Amino acid sequence: MTQPLDFLWFIPSSGDGQYLGTDLLSRPVDPDYFRDIARVADRLGYSGVLIPTGVACEESFILAADLAAHTERLKFLVAIRPGTASPAYYARMAATLDRVTRGRLLLNIVVGGSAQELAGDGIFLPHDERYAHADEFFQVFNSLMATGQASLNGKHIRAENARLGLPPVQAPRPPLYFGGSSEAGIGFAAGIAEKYLTWGEPPAQVAEKIAQVRRAAAGRAVSFGIRLHFIVRETDEEAWAAADRLISHLSDEAIAAAQAGQNAQSDSVGQARMTALHGGRRDRLEVSPNLWAGVGLVRSGAGTALVGSPATVAARLREYQDLGIDTVIASGYPHLEEAQRVADLLFPELGISAPVPPLRQSFGEKQVFGGGGHVGNVKLAAG
Ligand SMILES: Cc1cc2nc3c(=O)[nH]c(=O)nc-3n(C[C@H](O)[C@H](O)[C@H](O)COP(=O)(O)O)c2cc1C
Repeated sequence: MTQPLDFLWFIPSSGDGQYLGTDLLSRPVDPDYFRDIARVADRLGYSGVLIPTGVACEESFILAADLAAHTERLKFLVAIRPGTASPAYYARMAATLDRVTRGRLLLNIVVGGSAQELAGDGIFLPHDERYAHADEFFQVFNSLMATGQASLNGKHIRAENARLGLPPVQAPRPPLYFGGSSEAGIGFAAGIAEKYLTWGEPPAQVAEKIAQVRRAAAGRAVSFGIRLHFIVRETDEEAWAAADRLISHLSDEAIAAAQAGQNAQSDSVGQARMTALHGGRRDRLEVSPNLWAGVGLVRSGAGTALVGSPATVAARLREYQDLGIDTVIASGYPHLEEAQRVADLLFPELGISAPVPPLRQSFGEKQVFGGGGHVGNVKLAAG
């Protein structure tokens, strides 16, 4: 039998809501709310959470440090952006975060897909050069994490006798994840990443990418993960109604503005592949069975959701698993309630179980929920 998927959730560190493209029932950016989401994910059996990076997000390392203090098991897939700080400084940050979390750090390499955003961070490299820069960055970073020392006189990075005094908990370092779909990105990932991540493209396209990464890796071990939204309900019909509801207040103007913004700002091949799935049109959003591109009408990055009953969605996930995917990074709007719903409905189908609280639930009688009011739940005979 295949291993259960490694299933992570997402911290919406730039805000959350219930109706895409509107302020209706939206939620402010509030670290207390992120603690709520992280605690729910921790309790329900998610193995970790992805914390994104960007000018509109809370800073990923600092947020992870806060959430770690409020959780017990959860791992933190924290975005690391080469060039926003030196590799030696990032090595100290990552080693300390791995130490204070007792080895709960995973790193997501984000090279970036917006020249404008990168310019704001002081990075002025064309698309493919960013990967050459990232390659040198991780030569220094990895050497520091593994041995405490590094020197490099590279084209982009110069480090003289760099030192890291306190090693990370995980040896030689926390695992490196990477998402990027360009040739340069895949070439980079093949040489360095332990896990290659793709946004939720249809299975045939994911299969192509996996084959491309495997070819480029030439025998080096790389595993694979997928980043998807989930709209799971007890029946397929209810799930599709929830998908419709999510974009029920979304105007054509909001779609046009979001698409124009993405096209103007992004040179990311991965983003172009996401946008091509729906082409800005709301009338052909099921881009492959149960794969719905409605989120991408306004949201950049992960733009597709698996929609359906638990059995339907689990079957679709098995198709990805058969291609080699072993990790899912999931989300749903709003992230607090949907973390609970996905765990309630989908985890049993996937064989994922929450850690059992070490508390007796009764004196042996079987309990029926909802029966009791203030005298307690109705008790049936044991058996
Ligand atoms: C799972 C996943 C998570 C990502 N997270 C971020 C993020 O937090 N911030 C960001 O700016 N880009 C993020 N990206 C985008 C990529 O890191 C990358 O910068 C971009 O797609 C450009 O790469 P490409 O042209 O090689 O596709 C993510 C991509 C994937 C697949």
